[in-house]
Amino acid sequence: MSGAALVEAQDVAQRFGDRTIFEHVRFSVLAGEIFVILGGSGCGKSTLMRQMIGLLPPTSGRVMVLGHDMRAPDADVLTRIGVMFQGGALFGNKTLLENVMLPLEMHTGLPREARATLAAVKLGLVGLADAANLQPAEISGGMAKRCAIARALALDPPLLFLDEPAAGLDPITSAGLDKLILDLRAQLGISFVVVSHELTSILTIGDRCIMLDRAARGIIATGNPRELRDKSTDPRVRAFFRRSAPVND
Ligand SMILES: Nc1ncnc2c1ncn2[C@@H]1O[C@H](COP(=O)(O)OP(=O)(O)OP(=O)(O)O)[C@@H](O)[C@H]1O
Ligand SMILES: [Mg+2]
Repeated sequence: MSGAALVEAQDVAQRFGDRTIFEHVRFSVLAGEIFVILGGSGCGKSTLMRQMIGLLPPTSGRVMVLGHDMRAPDADVLTRIGVMFQGGALFGNKTLLENVMLPLEMHTGLPREARATLAAVKLGLVGLADAANLQPAEISGGMAKRCAIARALALDPPLLFLDEPAAGLDPITSAGLDKLILDLRAQLGISFVVVSHELTSILTIGDRCIMLDRAARGIIATGNPRELRDKSTDPRVRAFFRRSAPVND
């Protein structure tokens, strides 16, 4: 349903001990959007993603995903979101095909042959049809990211969470991954929440973004990334988009 919020962060905070990582975090992700969470290292991007996918209950507030409260996610919502963790996290002792088959094994009663067929389709979608029988150690970093996306797509989720998909990739491979994300949205109508601090990628794929800041312990900017780059007067936002040293005033 276009226009409906797929994700709603409602006044979310995360503390570890007496340390506040962020608080008062509020945003919505709409159907069809590529929503980017950006900010420097350690500002809490992965932590916020873990809250959104039900791995970490927020210290206060709540995150709703597809109408479910992710403080106590049920199996239904967990099969309707796809996740790519920071670093990809493929199983090294399994082929790419077997990696993509895993969610089907865990969440469906399909026979092995059907699982293999579906997994092969997903590998085809990300351009890895010919690499199905290779193991993670035999492929490049860009291929590993694609395979992790194929695995996240295994159960045909309407919403994908990607943590730093472009990290560690050369600019050309990274651009290929951006194109894949845009193609998946255009062809399958998938919405994305993407954690990133790769400027080119953010400007290429992001419809809207929030910027987290470690010192501010929360969101310091919300909007379209290209507009923020061109129009924000906040020195921290300008520093991020123009990659200059922050202004001290
Ligand atoms: N389980 C935990 N216990 C204590 N501190 C934690 C825990 N998880 C994360 N942190 C701290 O929270 C802060 C934010 O971490 P997080 O991994 O979310 O940052 P990030 O924005 O994803 O950084 P990066 O860009 O380097 O991936 C860090 O200082 C981290 O050490
Ligand atoms: Mg992170």
